[in-house]
Amino acid sequence: MRSIAIINQKGGVGKTTTAVNLSAALAAAGHKVCLLDLDPQAHASLHLGIALSDSERSIYDVLIGNAAVSEIVQEVTDNLSLIPSHLDLAAAELELASEVGREVILRDKLALETNDFDFMLIDCPPSLGVLTLNALTAVNEVFLPLQPHFLALHGLSKLLQTIDLVTQRLNSNLMLSGVVLCMYDSGTRLAAEVSADVREFFARQTVSKGAWANARTFDTRIRRNIRLAEAPSFGQSIFDYAPQSHGAEDYRQLAREVCGLSSARASIASAAAA
Ligand SMILES: Nc1ncnc2c1ncn2[C@@H]1O[C@H](COP(=O)(O)OP(=O)(O)OP(=O)(O)O)[C@@H](O)[C@H]1O
Ligand SMILES: [Mg+2]
Repeated sequence: MRSIAIINQKGGVGKTTTAVNLSAALAAAGHKVCLLDLDPQAHASLHLGIALSDSERSIYDVLIGNAAVSEIVQEVTDNLSLIPSHLDLAAAELELASEVGREVILRDKLALETNDFDFMLIDCPPSLGVLTLNALTAVNEVFLPLQPHFLALHGLSKLLQTIDLVTQRLNSNLMLSGVVLCMYDSGTRLAAEVSADVREFFARQTVSKGAWANARTFDTRIRRNIRLAEAPSFGQSIFDYAPQSHGAEDYRQLAREVCGLSSARASIASAAAA
């Protein structure tokens, strides 16, 4: 199983949109996918049409020991399952603060029950608190969505430092594997310039031995597309809401890239099929 945390402590950069639609694209391509919503805002759950009532149990109950993952996981489609969140999760940061081994709780709970999946994706909150640390400890890979505007790299050193500390102390398997450029305004000079800066920044890191030494920027850029912003209010992934949109096209392409199928091979395959 590949397990991937989607993190950036900056808000509104495209974490949830990427977590939901990449999960849906991987599921549509035949992989068994589990999406874990680890954000108290529960946006990923709502995006997939799942709003828990106050009496239903969520990932919060798993973290505090009131439920097993198998009791709360929901099947969204044949290949896509969701571990839902609820606003209750906001309390977890405080409640877990005094627990011994608080950063490894999620890893231990997931280890028991998620072996049947090909992919586990975790949508993280916009902070580097105990929830995000739990995600980083439970996965092997980090994807970093960035919005290509002039502050894109601001705050990145804190995030990379956090990943490095987790690698040293809690999870030696962790690797920042990919930067996803989201809300890309193709045709603007700013987007092109910032993308070049981001590529250069990560290219420079290859000389270091840090957890991000192998990070690359995905060739697939997620273009700004209004359909992606509309889909959550219908409780649908982009593939159900607007399957022909640029948004659907881009996340389908990202899924191919994530699976290691290069864009060149993909276009040869689609040309051969046509
Ligand atoms: N490619 C895109 N084109 C247009 N709108 C987008 C795109 N990606 C995301 N959005 C919209 O931008 C907003 C922020 O995106 P999203 O919720 O995915 O960010 P986030 O990083 O998860 O935010 P938070 O930090 O609050 O969790 C949402 O309204 C979303 O619908
Ligand atoms: Mg989000």
